[in-house]
Order: sequence, then C-alpha cells, then structure tokens
Amino acid sequence: MNLFNEYQQKLIEALKPGDRVRNVFKVLEIQKRTKKNGEPFLSLELRDPTGKIGAKIWSQVDTHLSMIRAGEFYRFSGTVNEYQNQPQLKIESLNPVAADDPEVNRSDFEEQAPFDVEKDFQDMTDTLKAAIRNPFLIGLIDIFEKKYRQAFQQHYAAQKIHHAYAGGLLEHTHSVIRLAILIADFYRLDRELLAIGALFHDIGKLIEFTRSPAVETTPEGGLIGHIILSNQIFLELQGQVKNFPPDLSLQIQHLIVSHHGEKEFGAPEVPKTPEAFVLHMIDLLDSKLKIFQEAIDAADANSRFSEYHRILGRRLFVPEKKE
Ligand SMILES: [Fe+2]
Ligand SMILES: [Fe+2]
Repeated sequence: MNLFNEYQQKLIEALKPGDRVRNVFKVLEIQKRTKKNGEPFLSLELRDPTGKIGAKIWSQVDTHLSMIRAGEFYRFSGTVNEYQNQPQLKIESLNPVAADDPEVNRSDFEEQAPFDVEKDFQDMTDTLKAAIRNPFLIGLIDIFEKKYRQAFQQHYAAQKIHHAYAGGLLEHTHSVIRLAILIADFYRLDRELLAIGALFHDIGKLIEFTRSPAVETTPEGGLIGHIILSNQIFLELQGQVKNFPPDLSLQIQHLIVSHHGEKEFGAPEVPKTPEAFVLHMIDLLDSKLKIFQEAIDAADANSRFSEYHRILGRRLFVPEKKE
C-alpha cells in the first residue's frame, strides 16, 4: 500500500486519532502563534458539513499564512491527533478549492442554528408584545421585526466567549427579555422599559462583527464597539416612530449604554436606574451561565474537573454523565 492510499475522506464527526485524511474544509479562523521555544506555528479552526475541528500547521508558517484566508475552502491532507481530549488535525499539505469545483457544495458548509430560529424569533416578539402596552414601543418592535428578522435570527451573540453560534444572539436576547420581565415584575420595576432595553442591548453585534464568510471584527466594531452601535440602531429605529417620547428614549439609551455595568468593562456609563442595573445583572447572568454550560459540555467526561477556564478563572466540576 503506498502512502497516498492511506489518506481517506472522512467527515469531522467520524474522525479519530490516528486517521489520515484528505478532505475539503472551510477555514473558519487562522492565527499565527508562537511555541514556547519561540518558533511560529499556525492554529486553525476548520468546518465541514458535520462539524468543526481545530488544526495546526507547523511548517512553512509564513508561506501558508499568506495563502490561507478565513472563509475560503481548501483540500487538506493531514493526520488526526488528540489535544485536550479533542481530535485535532496536523496539516501536512493543502490546495485551494476552485469556486466551481463540482465536488464541493459550499452551501453544505454553512452553519445551521441548533434550534428553530423562525419559531424562537416569533416567540420572542410575541413575548414582548404580551408584556408591553405602550404604543410607541409596540411601533418600535414592529419596525425592528421588519428590518432585523433575518439578520437577528442568524447572528452570534459573541465572536467566541458565549453563544458563539448561529442563532446565539437570538437565544441570548430572548433569555434576557424573559428574565427582564420576571425580575421587573418581582421588584415592581418598569417592565416595559426593561424588556425593550433587553431587546436592543446587543443589537449592535450585527455590525460589530461579520458571521460570513468568516467571523471577524468589522472596522465599525473595532473602532466603535457594539454598545454604541446598539444605541445608534435604537436611535435610528426610534426616529421612525412618530412622536417617540424623548424621556422614554433617554431611559432606553441609558439601559443600552450601561449594560456592561462598569467602565472597565466597556460601559460608557454605569447603571443609574434600577432597570439599568437589572439589565446589566441579567445580561451577565445569562452570558456567564452559558460559559459554565459550554465549558462543562466540552470537558472530559472521565475527569471530575475541567481544565482551568481562563474567563471564569477556575476549574469547573464535571458531573458524571447519566446513560
Ligand atoms: Fe453587550
Ligand atoms: Fe448581552
């Protein structure tokens, strides 16, 4: 058997350490990094129709870096290793895939949301409309639905840290809205204000980074950031609602700009109303809990504690998986 025959086409979901593969993958991300001894290497994230896999390139780093673009497709040859209990591809060679390659259907590589986003979006706007009576806010929600239904259903809530998948922004925003309504009622706060602030708090993420062909910060995202961009989108939509009350607009803007809670976390202003404080706390709660869940799901089920989690600053307890 010659060496070439040992390479096989195998989908990511079926890859095991020791496999030698020659497959088409879409590059989601590529980064140049440095080993402890100072030598450079490339760290990639790849996708096929069945999932994602991390990959490394150890040789000809600058040549490879100049030829590989995030969002593009290549035929990779390499060997599957294991890194932190996950399969990882060591890339040995690659070739670009032509745009008209008949063997590659690019739409199969598009990421699908893990839930029914149409239904979830409808549930979210129904929940808002059931909780809100103010006709100016209802008008605002109608305009939001018309303009953002498609984009909002597909976007990530963050590039990496939490809800970083298609539908993530919708899932996170919907959760924050439901928590906003519960807590506003419990503490007798302004439920309508809190719910609408929850809807708009992260909408600027639609501009802050792109999702396709690759997840990347935009110039607006890097120079202005989603907090101010969210406020800009709110102002733009509010301008289309005739006679929108200026005081209400100001209160909503305050919720948006203070939702990161502290200036060192990027908030232009700290929360100065109970509603703004609650929005900050439930935003933090929902994003942090998601990080807990994702870290526990990714942990090795055979060890009781996860690897050290940089963002949470701790190792997490991994419960035994029930059959
Ligand atoms: Fe945010
Ligand atoms: Fe958020």
